[in-house]
Amino acid sequence: MPNSNELRIKKYDKSGMFGLIKSFPEQCLRAKNIGYRFNPPDSYKLKYANIICAGMGGSAIGADILRSYLLDEAECPIFVSRSYGLPRFVGQESLVITSSYSGNTEETLSAYKDARRRGAKIIALTSGGRLEKYARADGYPVVLIPDRLPPRVALGYSLIPLIVILSKIGAINDKATEVDEAVGVLSRIKADDEARRIASRLYGKFPVIYASYEHTDAVATRWRGQIAENSKTVSSINLFPEMNHNEIVGWENPKKLLKDFAVVMLRDIKGDDKRILKRMNVTKKILKTAKIQVIEVKSFGDGLLARMLSLVHIGDLASFYLALLNKVDPTPVDRITYLKKELAKI
Ligand code: PA5
Repeated sequence: MPNSNELRIKKYDKSGMFGLIKSFPEQCLRAKNIGYRFNPPDSYKLKYANIICAGMGGSAIGADILRSYLLDEAECPIFVSRSYGLPRFVGQESLVITSSYSGNTEETLSAYKDARRRGAKIIALTSGGRLEKYARADGYPVVLIPDRLPPRVALGYSLIPLIVILSKIGAINDKATEVDEAVGVLSRIKADDEARRIASRLYGKFPVIYASYEHTDAVATRWRGQIAENSKTVSSINLFPEMNHNEIVGWENPKKLLKDFAVVMLRDIKGDDKRILKRMNVTKKILKTAKIQVIEVKSFGDGLLARMLSLVHIGDLASFYLALLNKVDPTPVDRITYLKKELAKI
């Protein structure tokens, strides 16, 4: 007999989001192989002034995680660009990775053209579409990833090949061991129980996600994106230590609404600065005194990548279970589809 959870999955998860989220560890492994099979041209093995990842939404989040993961290692700045044009500093000494899962996102295609105009080295990461067509026609290398997934589910494909490619061009050390550790941790952790617990506490609330500037900032962005797209729930994020210098004061009003918020604190005990850990503890005390619900979520694993991706995976599953509680199908993102259609007419 199926239990109530299985029945709910059957009822609301019409497009198989659960299976896709659960297969994240295997996807990371396949993505690693895609990265190792890709051979950047020798002319790409340079010391870059900067590395830009241009993309939107589900295709930009991999780049956010990359930037955050390499904060202590990359010798040049890694910048994630989410718009039509690229920042002024992009030029011939830049590597621009244009990432669009569909290959048809107008902002990313425009950023691609901007990068081409400025003479930057370009790599296109996509499952096809116009981005693949343009890049092949212009002679730029293309990293082709499997198609037919919702872009946000393809996080392994939009992140892991980039890590491998940056090591191949000499920008960072080889990360095969860290990727393997992450895959092992993701397959082992009991993310499901934890995710259900979180979802039940977030149900009916406005989630406010707090993380730390160093390495969990991009994870918080992922949580917000997944809670929006999967659970159809609006949320906000902020970071330590900055939120201790402003937002913390705001937890007084609107009085009538305070009970409707739930704070999620993403904690990377092995990586967060000691002072950040202290700040989180004191902040938790302040919030509890103000009767705000605080949910702590801890990372798993030793390596930074495993720790970051374990928090991502728990968040992905929590957003899925929150969708079930909200009685919505996690997969469709009708408003994004509608917006793209309307914009295509103009
Ligand atoms: O999750 C989504 O569907 C969106 O955030 C898309 O990723 C975003 O609109 C960009 O599209 P693409 O990933 O195809 O470039």
